[in-house]
Amino acid sequence: MKTFAILTGGGDCPGLNPAIYGAAKTALKFGHKVLGILDGWKGMINADCIELDEKSIHGIIAQGGTIIGTSRTNPFKREGGVDAVKATFQKLELDGLVAAGGEDTLGVASKLHDLGLPVVGVPKTMDNDLSGTDYTFGFFSAAEIGMDAAMKLHDTAKSHHRVLVLEVMGRHAGWVALYSGIGAFADYTMLPERKYSETELLEKVKSAYQKRKYAIVVVSEGVEILSQKGTVDEFGHTILSEKNIGESIAKLIGEKTGFETRSAVLGHIERGGSPVLFDRMLGVRSGMMAMKWLINGETGVMAALRGEKVEKVPLGEATRTLKVVTKDWIDLLEVLE
Ligand code: F6P
Repeated sequence: MKTFAILTGGGDCPGLNPAIYGAAKTALKFGHKVLGILDGWKGMINADCIELDEKSIHGIIAQGGTIIGTSRTNPFKREGGVDAVKATFQKLELDGLVAAGGEDTLGVASKLHDLGLPVVGVPKTMDNDLSGTDYTFGFFSAAEIGMDAAMKLHDTAKSHHRVLVLEVMGRHAGWVALYSGIGAFADYTMLPERKYSETELLEKVKSAYQKRKYAIVVVSEGVEILSQKGTVDEFGHTILSEKNIGESIAKLIGEKTGFETRSAVLGHIERGGSPVLFDRMLGVRSGMMAMKWLINGETGVMAALRGEKVEKVPLGEATRTLKVVTKDWIDLLEVLE
């Protein structure tokens, strides 16, 4: 019997519990012990964990969040952090670790693997911005919430003859805004990857308003229109919720068009709730494959979705560049708007 562990790091998202389930179930099935490291890399620094068994993982496929907690702790930014992680491997007698996370968590996993630790990655992020995989779990659940919110805004915007601006999450990539905007036939969708044009924004809003006396704009939180600066987290990312881009856009539209305009921010609502079926399936499959490879001694890889298969991709490759919305998607948006 060997001992394996799983941790979840970075922002939580629907699909993490299915991944924990898949990984734990696989280890248990083959007679191994499996630990859940608490609160991401913080738990690896402090050797904080719980044992996962059939009882503790029952039904978690349907639950949002992560039953083992998460944090944005970076062991490479904490004094003695990496040594503490190595010590935890010894103390808990770990034969391997599954790290489920986005670019930051997997970046740490990749560096630790380079230092000789047996780690396998599971990609997750509602932002869907990881390279090397077709989709990440969390994305479809979040985009569904974005689309649903925009659909609700149609009702109230139409009733009051207003412009409604919806701000959705997505740090550096506009995937959530893109899918929410297309799915809810927004009149204009603003992405960090789309060149900002005030003229175009106002034209689209005015044209929609002329046709039906209301308009819907979806904006990704990562869009830059002003040189706003916010505080940064341990991975150096600006805390975007402090920038209020949706509110600024709404104010601008109101001032320049004279239309009554309101804004709504989805924020962390997008990270909660039960995972949609796609995210459940991808989470379970990724967790299972990652644990299977770990048991077989294949490390330094990430469980990537490639077409219909979950395949091995080197961790380094997955974290090298961010996957952002490409020009062909923006061309498509331009036809729809
Ligand atoms: O990376 C996922 C994400 O949800 C981003 O879309 C968002 O900008 C960020 O996390 C928010 O982070 P926090 O939960 O630390 O405020």
